[in-house]
Amino acid sequence: MDSNRVIMFDTTLRDGEQSPGATLNLAEKLEIARQLARLGVDVIEAGFAIASPGDFDAVSRIAQEVGATDAGPTIASLARCNKKDIDAAWGAVQWSKKPRIHTFLATSDIHLQYKLKISRNDCVEQIGEFVSYARSLCGDVEFSPEDAGRSDPEFLYQVLNVAVQAGATTLNIPDTVGYVTPTEYYDLIAGILKNVPGIHEKGVIISTHCHNDLGLATANTLAGVRAGARQVEVTINGIGERAGNTALEEVVMALNTRKTFYDPIYTSVDTTQLVRTSKMVSSMTSMPVQPNKAIVGVNAFAHEAGIHQDGMLKNPLTYEIMRPESVGWNNTNLVLGKHSGRAALGDRLRQLGYDLNRQELDKVFDKFKALCDKKKVVSDPDLEALLTDQFEMLETDAWKLAECHVTSGTNNTPVASVTLVDEQGEARKDAALGNGPINAICNCINRLTGVDAKLVEFHVHAVTEGIDAIANVTMRIEMLNSEGKSAVFSGRSADTDTLVASGKAYLAAMNNGLRRANAGRTRLERVGTV
Ligand code: KIV
Ligand code: ZN
Repeated sequence: MDSNRVIMFDTTLRDGEQSPGATLNLAEKLEIARQLARLGVDVIEAGFAIASPGDFDAVSRIAQEVGATDAGPTIASLARCNKKDIDAAWGAVQWSKKPRIHTFLATSDIHLQYKLKISRNDCVEQIGEFVSYARSLCGDVEFSPEDAGRSDPEFLYQVLNVAVQAGATTLNIPDTVGYVTPTEYYDLIAGILKNVPGIHEKGVIISTHCHNDLGLATANTLAGVRAGARQVEVTINGIGERAGNTALEEVVMALNTRKTFYDPIYTSVDTTQLVRTSKMVSSMTSMPVQPNKAIVGVNAFAHEAGIHQDGMLKNPLTYEIMRPESVGWNNTNLVLGKHSGRAALGDRLRQLGYDLNRQELDKVFDKFKALCDKKKVVSDPDLEALLTDQFEMLETDAWKLAECHVTSGTNNTPVASVTLVDEQGEARKDAALGNGPINAICNCINRLTGVDAKLVEFHVHAVTEGIDAIANVTMRIEMLNSEGKSAVFSGRSADTDTLVASGKAYLAAMNNGLRRANAGRTRLERVGTV
């Protein structure tokens, strides 16, 4: 392994999926994993296998399909420091050519005393026992001392030494609560490299894992790399617990753009895939990217001020430190129309990063043809919108929207009439009033399903310009989970009719909630993790 190469460990499908409401189904996880492989990440943390049978299946499928070749990424699963978790992680990742078990235990006094209620000695013992157990199953074992950022450094050196002696091949240093500053994180990584002797003897890799509570995740990660870390744990768009994790695209482009500063450190990421990956993750997790987000926000390369535009026309170097094409903006936007066939559609979708099988392509093709009746030209954003609920359709939905009619306007109470079809194919119809047309649709869906859901967030955006644009709707709803606790679920849909898209998005969020409740998992807190 080249000591100047930074290993990109992507945890979008594990820590990223812990973002409130960002639930992904199996088909979506597989599609994202394939795109991450195309992007060139080295390790995919595909999930937390013990969390639920659904999580276990997702990690196994990704291990079998995306991790099937030597050239593909390593597939990792998270596991707490106990036999059951580690067995589940191994059961799921073992199908990969390059499997990894990632086990963790908290080391800060706050966590030991209040959360785990164990002594420092118990902690050291558990780490020794279970890292060594994980190593008996798998040659590649990562250990993370959770809340390392607030742990006593001397104690940290002690536990990391135990982990190394027990066979850990990577030591990941999480700033779990996003508390430390770049200088502190630099010192922490440098201190570990200096005070844990086994690291150098055994060629153990030090890894960063930073949360963004103070907006310092990228700065901390880069400081860690400067101090000697050679793996970074990141997510696409920086999604993750609370304020999120370090954004992959920011670290990659900082190392790329400031090559001479970071020289000779590099990554193997194909930067032209960054925007495509960001859009896919944003769409599938129903988490819009803020317009001013570095690298992948729609305004990241937009120059508004006259002075800036003048400078850009004279020489782009005046105001641009990266070329938009280098991260995948401004790729050719080919248009398709009603004369385009299935092969042309499949080909264009592949170029957009979606490798659909025959059955999936047939479904999109039908939607594409229906859209061509309403729109003359179908562009890339339209195609991406058509795929919006494609991956939800592959799993069983408790309810499907068959019809939706709404009347509203000045001086009248909005009323919606909706027909839903259940899993057995039986149709149910009802009508409801609301304080607006969307509220009327949501009330009607609640009445029909008997689920008392509440709309908490609603986003609508037109994917292209013009009167015939498709509306992309994202909704977050609150409903009770299987334990009777309130939880947030999201759904999205696209249609040329905004109200129909809204009804479908509301139902998609509800179906997500019902699917989660049936799978016996709502959030990872259920199994007591971070
Ligand atoms: O933030 C954290 O501490 C984690 C660990 C489980 C690696 O996500
Ligand atoms: Zn984390």
